[in-house]
Amino acid sequence: MKPPVPERIATLRPYQPGRPIEEVERELGLSGTIKLASNENALGASPAALKAAAAALERVHRYPEGGVVLLRRALAERLGVAEDQLVFGNGSNEIIELAVRVFADGGREVVFSENAFMIYELVARAEGARPVAVPSRNFEHDLEALAAAVGPSTGVVFLANPNNPTGTVFGRDAWDKFLAAIPGNVVIAVDEAYREFVDLPDFPDTVADLGRHPGLLAMRTFSKAYGLAGFRIGYGVGEASLVDAMERLRQPFNVNLPAQEAALAALDDDEHLRRSRELVDEGRRFYSALFDRLGLSFVPSQANFVLVAVGDGDAVTNALLKGGVIVRPMAGYGYPHMIRVTVGTDAENARFAEVLEDLLGGQEAEG
Ligand SMILES: Cc1ncc(COP(=O)(O)O)c(C=O)c1O
Repeated sequence: MKPPVPERIATLRPYQPGRPIEEVERELGLSGTIKLASNENALGASPAALKAAAAALERVHRYPEGGVVLLRRALAERLGVAEDQLVFGNGSNEIIELAVRVFADGGREVVFSENAFMIYELVARAEGARPVAVPSRNFEHDLEALAAAVGPSTGVVFLANPNNPTGTVFGRDAWDKFLAAIPGNVVIAVDEAYREFVDLPDFPDTVADLGRHPGLLAMRTFSKAYGLAGFRIGYGVGEASLVDAMERLRQPFNVNLPAQEAALAALDDDEHLRRSRELVDEGRRFYSALFDRLGLSFVPSQANFVLVAVGDGDAVTNALLKGGVIVRPMAGYGYPHMIRVTVGTDAENARFAEVLEDLLGGQEAEG
């Protein structure tokens, strides 16, 4: 006899993260490998954040403040919300999970766009909620179809803006219509992990819109533009009652002490944020020019990565790996002909370009 594993857990396909450099180098006997596979910040963390985290190590035998007090205060002030409108998580991933656990309890539906960040579906399945994937349109969220898919059994609808892996965004008009169409008892969780990289005048300001819908939840992270992916810290912003429900369910010390201190310092490092944005902006332009030159079709991106059609995504990923460049194959997202490549430093982007050009040299790429 063995302890039984529930069917929904036994059939779950765990999230496949980008492969770590160390693992790839061990396996292929390589050195100097570069990783452009997990949408991390190629500049690294803000030096001020690292200093703050290092100083916090002296207190690491103590539990952190469960309420994330100092960062909560600073962020509330910065966002113009009350402190009890914020909930912090072990990465914004935990906020996604909390939203489903609380608001899609009892087998309710979780609605999201097809080809959106995979965690929405995974968490829905894991928690025994019912995932509803809505077809996307030309790589973009179809907000009208998403609104139409929301029904009496819907608990949460996730929107990724920008979306991973497509890098696409929706603007103010589509957002306004969507917001007006969704009943107040449904949570609209807007995942804004890459919002700092968006360069679009009509990009919706969800936090400013909180008063317009009682179920609105903005989810943000320190993992991307702030370069703190390894510390695991993100947050949600919503109405106090919404946030309170999630607070009840979270682990008492879900955000570690160095992460809290690093995030607090990172918030004030405007120069690092500016440089990170600039790097991504230049990197996106570099990739666009590269793909145009190679005749590869790609999805114009508002985030720190680009989705590009290369023919056979798995084969190209493996060939790039042998050339010391880790990217992400996209078959799991329904794009077997594509790869997703993160913006790196100038040198890393150039290295990717060189290996890719060698690989595709002369060969006709499929669009
Ligand atoms: C769209 C999106 N949301 C959320 C996350 C989770 O980020 P984290 O848990 O590091 O905050 C990611 C990470 O890749 C992402 O791409």
